[in-house]
Amino acid sequence: MQKRNIVLIGFMGTGKTTTGKIMSKMLGYPFIDIDEVIEKRYSLTINEIFRLKGEEYFREIESKTVNEVSKSKGTIIACGGGIVKKVINIHNLKMNGIVICLKADAEVIYKRLNINNEIRPLNEIRPLASDKSKEEILKLITEREELYNRADMFVDTSNESPFYIAKKIIVSLNLMKMD
Ligand code: S3P
Repeated sequence: MQKRNIVLIGFMGTGKTTTGKIMSKMLGYPFIDIDEVIEKRYSLTINEIFRLKGEEYFREIESKTVNEVSKSKGTIIACGGGIVKKVINIHNLKMNGIVICLKADAEVIYKRLNINNEIRPLNEIRPLASDKSKEEILKLITEREELYNRADMFVDTSNESPFYIAKKIIVSLNLMKMD
């Protein structure tokens, strides 16, 4: 039987990309990061797309990319934090995949998003988080909570390393006999 995709969703700073890359190495599955696909395809950083074309345009191309990438098999897919804003995206991602939501405490997320912000390259600065206070981040997390709850499985990354989280997911998926 064809292997299912393992799809990582969750708020910014929950460790989707780092965990996904580790899982890809551990399982020997290819890794796709939706934001990276978009940046390569449009030759612009996510930050530039938001600045030049606006969020609505970004969400359109994000959905288009999700639709394409969802057709892969046996792939680890890391999504941008706002993927849940369009229900169709989760629907598409679930067609060939199990959707895992990485969570973390608001305080932890805020710290992770602000570490070294001033020395990070421009393409890594998140347009929806760079100028936000802790309260604003918390508000955004709360607003999206219900949307993230559409995932099949949830893992709290607040106090664990991405390596531990990757292993934990792999063990849980074996238990779930997903193949
Ligand atoms: C976004 C999250 C980002 C990126 C864009 C919008 C969001 O991805 O897609 O800046 O709306 O939460 P990460 O979650 O990988 O930072």
